[in-house]
Amino acid sequence: ISAEKGGFKHFMLKEIFEQPRTVGDTIKGYISRDYILPFKLREFRRIILLACGTSYHAGLVGSYWISKYLQVPVEVMYASEFRYADIPVDDRDLVIAISQSGETADTRYSALSAKERGATVISLVNVMGSALDRESDYTLYTHAGPEIGVAATKTFTSQLAVLYSLSVSQLPNRDEYMEKLSAVPNMMEEVLGNAENVKKVALKYTNKKNMLYLGRYLSYPVALEGALKLKEISYIHAEGYPAGEMKHGPIALIDENMPVVVVAPKDRVYEKTLSNIEEVLTRKGIVISVGFAGDERLKSMSKDFIGIPSVDEDLSPFLTVIPLQLFAYYIADHLGLDVDQPRNLAKTVTVE
Ligand code: G6P
Repeated sequence: ISAEKGGFKHFMLKEIFEQPRTVGDTIKGYISRDYILPFKLREFRRIILLACGTSYHAGLVGSYWISKYLQVPVEVMYASEFRYADIPVDDRDLVIAISQSGETADTRYSALSAKERGATVISLVNVMGSALDRESDYTLYTHAGPEIGVAATKTFTSQLAVLYSLSVSQLPNRDEYMEKLSAVPNMMEEVLGNAENVKKVALKYTNKKNMLYLGRYLSYPVALEGALKLKEISYIHAEGYPAGEMKHGPIALIDENMPVVVVAPKDRVYEKTLSNIEEVLTRKGIVISVGFAGDERLKSMSKDFIGIPSVDEDLSPFLTVIPLQLFAYYIADHLGLDVDQPRNLAKTVTVE
């Protein structure tokens, strides 16, 4: 077993560290034009992304890319919600069903119901031959290799790689975008090189009962994913929220005992996120931030700061999510918890 873990203490840690390679492998698959779809993505009246759990967070990130690059109206829904809501769907719609396992019941059945009503269904799965792979019209694979840790990590970043590739795939300057994407794995390696620092930070917060995760734009889904990781494996209550929405509720929770993890790369909403940090500081919240290395302004506002390399704003989720995965991992491991097999959770949920 320890050989399978490649010297790592847990599969989850191994899988976190595999990400530069798995994202690289995924990108390779999409750089060639082999997978070209026989239709124009822009011709659909709407693109609907359906998923559960971590795959849903990848879908949320993807939705920003799809609106920006394809200019097609996009919706993202939890598969379990889509299925029982009266969402009008017909042959003018494209559904992208995202599922690592390809077996999640909610995702499968919601995709099937959209297909029955005439929608075109693309699935995005990591397991070839899985139910969703067979049931969809087209499949895009994530090439992350088997993921053993129950909490998804490397499949998330591979899903991002496919969603980004897909969003730019039919643009005239696609190659430029793919070139930018190809630089990501090396940057992810750099982020991982800083793991010991993330561990040091994480170990200061192992006795907390609650944490808040904030981000805006593409860092909003990353905040949700960071909070989910913490909940799943450390059993610490964590809530992810769009930073701008904090003032409409969660701000009431902030006091000197509340750690607030803020994802703040220098992107279009950077200044806005900094004002949100000010609001946290006014209420004496403890700010832990993830931002560009050398960002002294952000650093000066934070109790703890984790630096990542500067990156094109649209590619930041590939990097910002890694410290959050590690942060959750080191806390859970310190607490002596079963990181790879957290209580009450299953890797694949085949019941509705
Ligand atoms: C389970 C797993 C999660 C995963 C979710 C969706 O809840 O514990 O890690 O994100 O299912 O799985 P899928 O295979 O559909 O991506």
